[in-house]
Amino acid sequence: MSAILAIDAGTTGVTALIVTEKGEVAARGYEEFDQHFPSPGRVEHVPEGIWQATLEACRTVLAAHGRDDLVGIGITNQRETVVLWDRETLGSPRRAIVWQDRRTTAMCSSMADHDARVRELTGLRLDPYFSATKLAWIRENEPHTWTHVESGRYAIGTVDSYLIARMTRGLHHVSDVSNASRTLLFDITTNDWSDELCDLFGVPRDALPEIGPNWGEGVVTDPRSFLDLSLPIAGVAGDQQAALFGQAAFEVGDSKCTYGTGSFVLTNTGSSPQRSESGLLTSPGWMSPSGEVTYVLEGSIFVTGAAVQWLRDGLQIIGSAAETEALARTVSSSDGVVFVPALTGLGAPHWDPDARGTIIGITRGTTRAHIVRATLEAITFEVRDVMSTMPTPVASLNVDGGAAANNLLCQLQADQLEVDVSRPRYVETTGLGAAFLAGLGVGVWSSFDEIRETWALDRTFSPDASRRGAADEAYASWTRAVERSRQWA
Ligand code: G3P
Repeated sequence: MSAILAIDAGTTGVTALIVTEKGEVAARGYEEFDQHFPSPGRVEHVPEGIWQATLEACRTVLAAHGRDDLVGIGITNQRETVVLWDRETLGSPRRAIVWQDRRTTAMCSSMADHDARVRELTGLRLDPYFSATKLAWIRENEPHTWTHVESGRYAIGTVDSYLIARMTRGLHHVSDVSNASRTLLFDITTNDWSDELCDLFGVPRDALPEIGPNWGEGVVTDPRSFLDLSLPIAGVAGDQQAALFGQAAFEVGDSKCTYGTGSFVLTNTGSSPQRSESGLLTSPGWMSPSGEVTYVLEGSIFVTGAAVQWLRDGLQIIGSAAETEALARTVSSSDGVVFVPALTGLGAPHWDPDARGTIIGITRGTTRAHIVRATLEAITFEVRDVMSTMPTPVASLNVDGGAAANNLLCQLQADQLEVDVSRPRYVETTGLGAAFLAGLGVGVWSSFDEIRETWALDRTFSPDASRRGAADEAYASWTRAVERSRQWA
């Protein structure tokens, strides 16, 4: 039996999985890294911290499982976050600017004239979420650092690209379409960097990685840098596209929602990009070694799991995310409390970087159980907001990510959407998707059908018709609360 080492470098921590050729998760490691919030709206990570967490998570799974049957590595990662590193030393001159960072809100507004053209080329929109304005901010504010970008000493990349550089001792500076397409520097019709966009944001094209397919022979790790392993990195994708792949969502119309730091709803739209007029993004899902591209429509919701994290670390009204289900079940509703978790602005479909978190409807009778229940409900409302803008209504939704383990959340989600919500055997679908990509690359699986056969269902949650009226009423309150949260900052 052969196995794949899958690395999921997420926003708050790195997960490593060993996935066998039967599609089973044989071992798991996880390591968190520090989050830095230098001022309101700014979010940064220390690249070295991401790298050390990656090594530690991998050490854990190698110690538990061994290494003899490993034939390849898959990488998936938080997208849009930008990392700079020295091509020689691999050290980073500054912290990574994270996808959640809102520091370029004013810059985006000042560039509004370019929005239509940016949308046309990238399938995205001018929003601080994406990488290019973060790079432009470094160029404008840290000219000394930028000099070295222009001289070729510093490389620019997303987290996949940075990890590959570290794992190959700096030999390779590469990325893939799913990550590159989230930078605002990438043309989704040519599937290459766009000179026009590089000029617009002042980013030298030579500083960007070379783009390859999502699976294939891959580059090989250097054992001196990466845990004595010399293995091909045969699959790479941004985490949301990887999760769609991990759900074996290979047919047009197949959809998934991953509940992570944020939540991301993706629908497979097939071989040509479909545009949305209502706030969804168009991105490549994956590209085969022969260059065939599968596109997705995406609804990006910025804060869902992060809201639960805030209940734990900020408000300190829960001890762990796992407590939320039992606590929320102690009340039958949120009793009119609505929480709009716009803690880093609102993403799809509202796109308002100036929205801020709002809790409304509090009375003397409100308890932490109501606030926790309102948080779970908010996640389901946010997903409904996005799903209702999909051009073709979806017949069912596959869910994954840590919070998919929460039965109450899945039931509330089915009630809101009025469709079946299905949870697979493994909710760590992002890592599984990276393993599937790498396994295709090295021949563990030879077709999408073989991968699909390994996918197994855990449970389906069907909408409860008796709760229809209450679900719609709650959603109507949510819509009103969202209006109040907008343009606050
Ligand atoms: O676009 C941001 C996304 O890639 C982050 O995902 O799972 O770290 O919340 P996650």
